[in-house]
Formats: sequence, C-alpha cells, structure tokens
Amino acid sequence: MALPLLLTPLAIIFIIIIIIILSHTIIQRLRFKLPPGPTPKPIVGNLYDIQPVRFRYFLELSKTYGPIISVWIGSTLNVVVMNCELAKQVLKDKDQQLADRHRNRSIERLSKGGQDLIWADYGPHYVKVRKVCTVELFTPKRLEAFKPIREDEVTAMVESIFKNCSIPGNHGKSIKVKDYLAPVAFNNITRLSLGKRFVNSEGLTDAQGLELKQIVDNGVKIGASLSIAEHIPWLRWMFPVDQAAYDSHVARRDRLTRAIMEEHTLARQQNGAKQHFVDVLLTLQEKYDLSDDTIIGLLWDMITAGMDTTVITTEWAMAELVRNPRVQMKAQEELDRVIGIDRVMTEADISNLHYLQCVAKEALRLHPPTPLMLPHKANASVKIGGYDIPKGSNIHVNVWAIGRDPAVWKGPLEFRPERFLEEDVDMKGHDFRLLPFGAGRRVCPGAQLAITLLTSMLGHLLHHFSWSPPPGVKPEEMDMTENPGLVTYMRAPVQAVPTRRLPSQLYKRLPA
Ligand code: HEM
Repeated sequence: MALPLLLTPLAIIFIIIIIIILSHTIIQRLRFKLPPGPTPKPIVGNLYDIQPVRFRYFLELSKTYGPIISVWIGSTLNVVVMNCELAKQVLKDKDQQLADRHRNRSIERLSKGGQDLIWADYGPHYVKVRKVCTVELFTPKRLEAFKPIREDEVTAMVESIFKNCSIPGNHGKSIKVKDYLAPVAFNNITRLSLGKRFVNSEGLTDAQGLELKQIVDNGVKIGASLSIAEHIPWLRWMFPVDQAAYDSHVARRDRLTRAIMEEHTLARQQNGAKQHFVDVLLTLQEKYDLSDDTIIGLLWDMITAGMDTTVITTEWAMAELVRNPRVQMKAQEELDRVIGIDRVMTEADISNLHYLQCVAKEALRLHPPTPLMLPHKANASVKIGGYDIPKGSNIHVNVWAIGRDPAVWKGPLEFRPERFLEEDVDMKGHDFRLLPFGAGRRVCPGAQLAITLLTSMLGHLLHHFSWSPPPGVKPEEMDMTENPGLVTYMRAPVQAVPTRRLPSQLYKRLPA
C-alpha cells in the first residue's frame, strides 16, 4: 500500500506543521547571528538539558560558550548574559527595546493580559502605572509614614523568638529562622498594601487572612501545573489550560480584594483618607484612569513581589552570619557601640550602622533572591555583545553570576562585608556589578523599602541575640545550596540557636 494512504488527514497536517516550524527555526538560526550555546534538539530545544537550578547551570555553560549564551526552551530563544558589560547593554543601552515581559498562559490569565505592572509590556499602560508607583506609592514620605508598621512587626518578631527561647527546655535549642521572618514580611506587606493585619497578637490568622494565604498557595499551584506545551506554542491546542480552574482562582482573588477595597472606601468616607496603597490607588483612580483590574493587579503585585524576596534575603544573610562568627561579632560590636544595650534599635539608627548596611549588601551580592531577575522580552530586534537578539526572544541577566564574577570581585565567594567599606558600590541599579534589584526602567520599585526592612530585621536579630549553629553542626557543614525556582529559597532552611544579649524588658513588641 502506498505511504500517503496510511496517513490520516490529521497526521498530514501535523507533519506539515512540524516541517513549517522546523524550517522557520532553521531559517531564524541562519538569518541571525545568535549567541552561542548548546545544540538544541528538534521541537524541545534544550529544555531537557537544563538543570533545575538554572542560574548555576547557565554559569556552567558560560565556561564553554562565553558570557552571552543562547538556550532554546522549546521553540523560544532565551538569551542569558553573565557579565556587567553585557548587563549594561541590556539594562541601559537597549533598555527600552528589551523591556517587555514574557507571559505564559498562566500569567496571561492571572494578570488579565498584563493589566498590572509586573507583567505589563512596555507601553503607555506600563508607563502610566509605573509613574503611579514612583510618584504616589513608593515616595520617601510614604515609606517614612509606614515606619511604625515596620518597627511593630520587627519587634513582634523579636518578642516571638524571645518567648520561644524562654519556654523551659528550649534553652540551647535551634529554631527554624524562616518561621520568624515570614510573618514580618507577610504582615508588613499586607498592612502596607491592603491596610490590614490579618494576624492577631496571639498569632491567629482571621478568615480573610486565611483566604489570602490560600489564594497565594493556589496561584503557585495552578501556575506550576502547565505542561511542556507552554514552551511550544503550536502544540498548545493539544494541551488546553484548565480554564475553569483559572476562572475560579481569579474570581476568588478579585472577590476578596474587592471586599477589602469596599471596606476602605467606607472607612475613608467616615474617617478621611489613609496612606495605605489601596487607599492611595482608590483615591487616584480617576486622576490616572486606573481600572479596577489594574488596582487589583497592583495590590497583588506587591504581595507576590515583596514577600518571598525579603524573607529569602534575610534567611541567607542569617545563614552567612551563623557561618561567619567574625562578621556576626563585628556587626554586634557596632550595634552595641551605636545603640548600647539599654534600648532597642530603631530605623533612625541605620544611617549610623555602616557595617550592618554592608552585611545586608553582601548578602544581596552573594544571594540575590531573584538570581535571573524577571525575564525581559525583546519588543524589537537588537544587537547585544555583537550578537543578534531577535524580536520576541527572552533575555535574562544572571545577576547571581555577576555578583560572583572573579573579574570584578576580589575573593568573590567569601562573605566579607568590609569590601563595601573599602569601596561604596551602589545596589539600586547604577553599578552593573551589583544588580539584586535590576536596573533601568524596570528596576524594582520596592528596593528602598526592601533594603530598610532587611537592614532593620538583621539589626534587631543581631542586637537581641547571638546566633550559633545547631548542636553538633559545624559552620562549614551548613547546606548553602538553593532550591530550584524563580526565587532562591535555601534548600535546607537555616536552623540556628538564639542566645539572649539584652535585658529581658527590651524584648517587647512595640505596636504601631
Ligand atoms: C530583597 C527584596 C527584593 C529584591 C531583591 C527585588 C528584586 C526585584 C527584581 C530583580 C525585579 C525585576 C527587575 C527587572 O525586571 O528588571 C523586581 C521587580 C519588582 N519588584 Fe522587587 N525586589 C524586592 C522586594 C520588593 C518589594 C518589597 C516590593 C514591593 C512591596 C517589590 C516590588 C516589585 C515590583 C512591583 C516589580 C516589578 C517592576 C516592573 O516590572 O516594572 N519588590 N524586584
């Protein structure tokens, strides 16, 4: 029997599609001078070669292919740059052409086509919403107004660790540090953006708070359920997304947020304007022509972008301080000298705590929580490092690798905060050697807030307690590897033994 008779019309269409796709990919590779990289396999590209901890894998590849590489994830070209010169080209010289975002089908639905800030493409909507963030939300005055909230949460953390240590039988026992950091970030971000503390002083979360946590968890779950077809657009028709799951998730999130927005509108009518992001956005809704979807999107952007990142950085910093008693003691000496032992630290002390600031910076150099930043997408074809980056490609800056590049850092793997006393290096996007918050038009708008909170948390943790490894664990044996993912939680959450350093009356929460 002749071969064509064996093929169904569907199979023939399928083969034609594959031929068209393969020839398109080959033509693209021949037409453009793409950065070098591992040879991609048909259809899946390099997808199955990529190691789970991507930023480490990309650095490995750079040893073979150089500081700019191509990696094909399915049929999408991903370019990764790994030195500060190339980072500058991406984030400064070609910033505008490389400022779009790649939205997979999950993100497309959750962000309603990029109506928020994080997932918006660069364009009039993005410029408007970014202006709202810069001019209205993250102003120095507003950040100052939230200081009592931050100090309340940080002192609540100290009180809670103290209470735990004071339980008979707990003396000398280690705690999982993250368990005490996470509530600070959660309460801080929800109070700042939604104007609510969902957790009472006994640590019990109310019904709205539980709902919020479940929505966050469910968002992560449905986001992770996407199939390989995500990377191969022409295969998507075979793997439809579970639209019902997204609809119900988005409806649930919007219902909760709208209920909170209505509570605030009512409260404003009765008691006048408040400073929280939800109030600011609702008050300015007409002035900036913001849709309800954009306001909801922005509020959730703060929750998703601001919570994990702060906890992760503080946890890594604590791990380094436990591993490096010399650094810990030096930071404590400074705290004792500047503050003494008869009062607690306040944010006003930070400007006098130079070494502590360097500790925070050194933690962000070695352990940026978003090691590949958030991927950017090219909205035009550009050249980077002499190579073509075709329109539609994703581009990642490996800020983790740049922070450890021996060409720009002396003893790069050493946790040595003194390096920043010797040379003051900016970390908010002006020095391309240190980019934990990115740079350029998409630089993190929450950078100053994050730095203040991180420094304050570290200061309190070190002033109130000394920290040592759990009994029987040597500092050099601590697991300092990362979990795979967009953000880098420690694979083994750090455990440490806190020992009280100050008089016991200083371990009280100072409510806002
Ligand atoms: C240690 C803590 C933090 C780190 C290291 C961090 C880092 C980053 C990075 C690398 C980006 C992507 C930049 C780019 O795409 O070029 C980003 C974006 C963003 N961050 Fe942060 N961030 C932190 C905390 C926060 C906080 C506390 C907030 C808000 C409460 C926040 C809000 C945002 C938002 C809204 C964006 C999207 C900006 C845009 O797309 O224009 N971040 N952050």
